[in-house]
Amino acid sequence: MARGKFITFEGIDGAGKTTHLDWFRQQLAAKLEAQQRGVVMTREPGGTTLGETLRGILLNQPMDLETEALLMFASRREHLAQVIEPALARGDWVLSDRFTDATFAYQGGGRGLPRDKLEALERWVQGGFQPDLTVLFDIPTDTASERRSSARAPDKFESESEAFFERTRAEYLRRAEEAPERFFIVDSSKPIDEIRQRLEEVVATL
Ligand SMILES: Nc1ncnc2c1ncn2[C@@H]1O[C@H](COP(=O)(O)OP(=O)(O)OP(=O)(O)O)[C@@H](O)[C@H]1O
Ligand SMILES: [Mg+2]
Repeated sequence: MARGKFITFEGIDGAGKTTHLDWFRQQLAAKLEAQQRGVVMTREPGGTTLGETLRGILLNQPMDLETEALLMFASRREHLAQVIEPALARGDWVLSDRFTDATFAYQGGGRGLPRDKLEALERWVQGGFQPDLTVLFDIPTDTASERRSSARAPDKFESESEAFFERTRAEYLRRAEEAPERFFIVDSSKPIDEIRQRLEEVVATL
């Protein structure tokens, strides 16, 4: 069977990634069923036993910025080796809640780590490997912060300032401009039904 495809969901905290992920998985699964391909749903940081341990550390412990970037890519290396590559090789499609664009947006845009360092780690960990499609949930930072709120205590990233999320959002948009063939941008301030219609268009093109 031909190799599967790798699709990532991106956007700042509260943008709506998780809200649409399972619905999108069902749309894809229905489409791929006839070809006997599965859809693997996963997330970053995380996706493996070690990766989920690293996620707990990354989201909750203060650390040096470069340590943070290195741990993100360490988690990603494990994720690629254990989950993503084997799934794509057996013909399944993989849907990930965040991937490398998030590291460029958060550690690069948000925290200011020089882009060339992140590019070096990206080359080391994934060679030329890139998602086949990235859906970017774009949203004004004030709307996202209203949506984030209250059910549980905010993690280290969710506690960041409005200015941090402005820089993070801007870096996501810059990357989308740089690779328009890979990105599909969704206006995430719209109602959920309208966003689903946009996502149906995406699924139809796959
Ligand atoms: N289009 C929308 N209109 C109104 N509310 C929305 C919309 N999309 C998502 N929400 C709500 O916004 C909140 C944040 O959404 P969600 O958890 O999907 O964001 P996320 O991108 O996964 O954030 P995080 O990066 O923090 O995991 C949820 O309470 C969700 O119900
Ligand atoms: Mg989420």
